[in-house]
Amino acid sequence: MKKFFKYTDVPEGIKEQIATQVSQSPYRQAFHIEAPSGYLNDPNGFSFFAGKYHLFYQWTPFKYSKEKIWYQGWHHLVSDDLISWQSLGPGIEPDTIYETHGAYSGSGLSLAQTMLLFYTGNTRNQQGQRIPYQLIATMDSQGCISKRAMPEISGTLSGYTDHFRDPKLWRGKNGDFYGIIGVQREDRTGAALVVHSKDTNNWQVLGELGTKLTNFGYMWECPDYFELADCGVFIFSPQGILPEKQRFQNIYQTGYLIGSTIDEENLNLDEQQEFRELDKGFDFYAPQSTELPDGRRIVIGWMGLPEMRYPTEDFGYCGCLTIPRELTIVAEKLYQQPVREIIDYRKRHQTFTKTQLENGVTIDQTCELLFEINQVPLQDFTLKLMGGNQQKEYLQIRYLSKTNELWLDRSNLTCTLNSEYGTKRLLAKGVSGSLILDIFVDVSSIEIFVNQGEAVASSRMFFKDEQRFLRVTSGERSSVMANYWLIELEKN
Ligand code: FRU
Repeated sequence: MKKFFKYTDVPEGIKEQIATQVSQSPYRQAFHIEAPSGYLNDPNGFSFFAGKYHLFYQWTPFKYSKEKIWYQGWHHLVSDDLISWQSLGPGIEPDTIYETHGAYSGSGLSLAQTMLLFYTGNTRNQQGQRIPYQLIATMDSQGCISKRAMPEISGTLSGYTDHFRDPKLWRGKNGDFYGIIGVQREDRTGAALVVHSKDTNNWQVLGELGTKLTNFGYMWECPDYFELADCGVFIFSPQGILPEKQRFQNIYQTGYLIGSTIDEENLNLDEQQEFRELDKGFDFYAPQSTELPDGRRIVIGWMGLPEMRYPTEDFGYCGCLTIPRELTIVAEKLYQQPVREIIDYRKRHQTFTKTQLENGVTIDQTCELLFEINQVPLQDFTLKLMGGNQQKEYLQIRYLSKTNELWLDRSNLTCTLNSEYGTKRLLAKGVSGSLILDIFVDVSSIEIFVNQGEAVASSRMFFKDEQRFLRVTSGERSSVMANYWLIELEKN
């Protein structure tokens, strides 16, 4: 495999070849971030800096190229409103000896003049052994990135293995700098380490974040700690959790703990609630949050998972990010709502009555559907999103009154996706009274926000037919209506 350390060194012909392949895909998304080519995974460096939102993602642009070219770094995007993003191309490149096997995930933090980027450089020595480095780069207001000459933390730490990565930075109330980094203990259990610096130099490891989950999977990837409504919130992506009833059905999980805030004297998330999954869908992993200047806490995730297969790979690319979501805490749970900026992209409003929905309506490939279903107790209903109007391939959202459960069901799609991990997901149970479903459909994905963000499910879906048809069947006594908008990236 030929290695490249700079994107610009890769021959243009190879890039053009992949671009042509990508352009033939029938699955390209309209309002979700995708890579121009290759593999997209974790969101990185999400921050507001110099008047713009900055976001990066893990990018392996030539993963599917026949030329066997290897390059893994960060791709850089900017936006004025979190929805419409402009690609700036390569951000952090794997071009130093500390990241020869990939500029892995990390985070951003805005300072007055610069944005700090704290990330993991992945390397392997001649014996193939992994040696991680925790690295800092700074970006100026022109988007120019310079790397520090030396790593902040080199290699592995005593008591831990070489799985040590994904630093997330924040600023403490005292102005000091803190970071949280995913790690594997020598006994092969996952943990997160808190690091501290007064001035972004001389990082000290303070210790492990204290949680009740002392034996919870073999590795915690992409940890994120922040404070919201006077609570400490810890989001992370543990690997090695076995399925449990209807929970933990995906290959790897992403969830959160809410407790009291931590500080240098006390790294324990005290009064901790149970671990809850952040997203109930089939495709969600490695989210990252940031605080906006207006105080909102926004999270964005990868709508995908490691080791899964997606049909876009045949067109030279794979992966997309979710819609950015605003986080709030309600009754000790994280609620997630699509950022309100998306409203500016709603077009051609229509309302669908119960009868129209029962007969079926043709909808756009990219749209928002806001359902209100009222009836106490709720009667069964089934929402079918179809490719074509012949019921040949469809995705279902079903409410079952008998068990009082809401399900997402991908089993009737002709293009099956990673079905060894199941084809149904439980989105909510104990639904009482009315149900509000705010559904965002893009060409090959769906995100379902249940009851003002109490539950969210993100999933990819691939139809053979380009036509979208919607049909809802519900009980006689249920009142059902939907608001409908086309979603398009050009603003009104
Ligand atoms: C999570 C992850 C991170 C790592 C990155 C590499 O998906 O495995 O732990 O930094 O991807 O792309």
